[in-house]
Amino acid sequence: MKIAVVGAGAMGCLYGAKLSAVESNQVTLLDVWQEHVDAINVNGLEMEEKGEILNYGQLMATSNPASVGPVDLAIIFVKSTLTAAAMESNQAVFGPETIALTLQNGLGNVDIISSHINPDHVLAGTTAHGATMLGPGKIRHAGFGKTIIGELNGQLTERISLVEGLFQEAGLETEVSDNVVGLIWDKLLVNTGINALTGLTGLENGKLLQYPEILQLMEEAVREGLEVAHALGIRLNIPDGVSHTKEVCQATAANRSSMLQDITNGKQTEIDMINGAIVREGEKAGVSTPVNHTLTNLIKFLQRNVK
Ligand code: PAF
Repeated sequence: MKIAVVGAGAMGCLYGAKLSAVESNQVTLLDVWQEHVDAINVNGLEMEEKGEILNYGQLMATSNPASVGPVDLAIIFVKSTLTAAAMESNQAVFGPETIALTLQNGLGNVDIISSHINPDHVLAGTTAHGATMLGPGKIRHAGFGKTIIGELNGQLTERISLVEGLFQEAGLETEVSDNVVGLIWDKLLVNTGINALTGLTGLENGKLLQYPEILQLMEEAVREGLEVAHALGIRLNIPDGVSHTKEVCQATAANRSSMLQDITNGKQTEIDMINGAIVREGEKAGVSTPVNHTLTNLIKFLQRNVK
């Protein structure tokens, strides 16, 4: 299968590398970071995983989507702040038959992608893996978990089974769900509890559990999100979001969350699509969300990079 991964951050590299190890796949990473693209093409992608260094030499990378052309499957992995821009600049990989799958964090990606291509061609899902960018062409696979994907209308179609099979073959444990909106909210709650707190404290995911004053904020942030989800009538797949968030902290204990990596690298974070989304949705639903509001504003201040 011809596959493009739009966004070669740590997670895009992880999925691209695993899929490229299956001989029948032809996988290209698309990214604007030229040094990273060049390093992958010259040395292969290097992945640190469970104490081993793996090399994926068959993985290709480019900053020129026209050189790839239309693909069968495009996996969207850019930061959710960049979804609209990435859909515009990577139009060349979306042909009339291309299926787009978003595995991004945050709320709103499905709508943005659906406004750029035929909405019937959009699939969504979540990933419980964690990965860290170590430098050009180098990542660490720092957390392991399931990938859950689905059709937006919940149907069990041939194409969703095909993508599930493709991921399984690549060693990515995958399930299909009939409740994609619930899935996105399940993951949103996890990110609500982990990402801003790691960004603010500088702690790895697992360490958030070790400090009662931080753990309390995590629980309160997720509880607010749960209240908003209930008020909006969202059917969650994981009812106990607080315990689940703690489990994800443990499963990705050594990972520096994507938001912590963004703060460290002086980049814009996904705060508006995570804790900020809980605040906005809470306003719509008449639920007050003071902890999420505070976390959102503190991260917004940090990402100003005031010295
Ligand atoms: O954004 C992230 O870093 C990840 O979604 C997660 C699951 C919190 C692991 O670090």
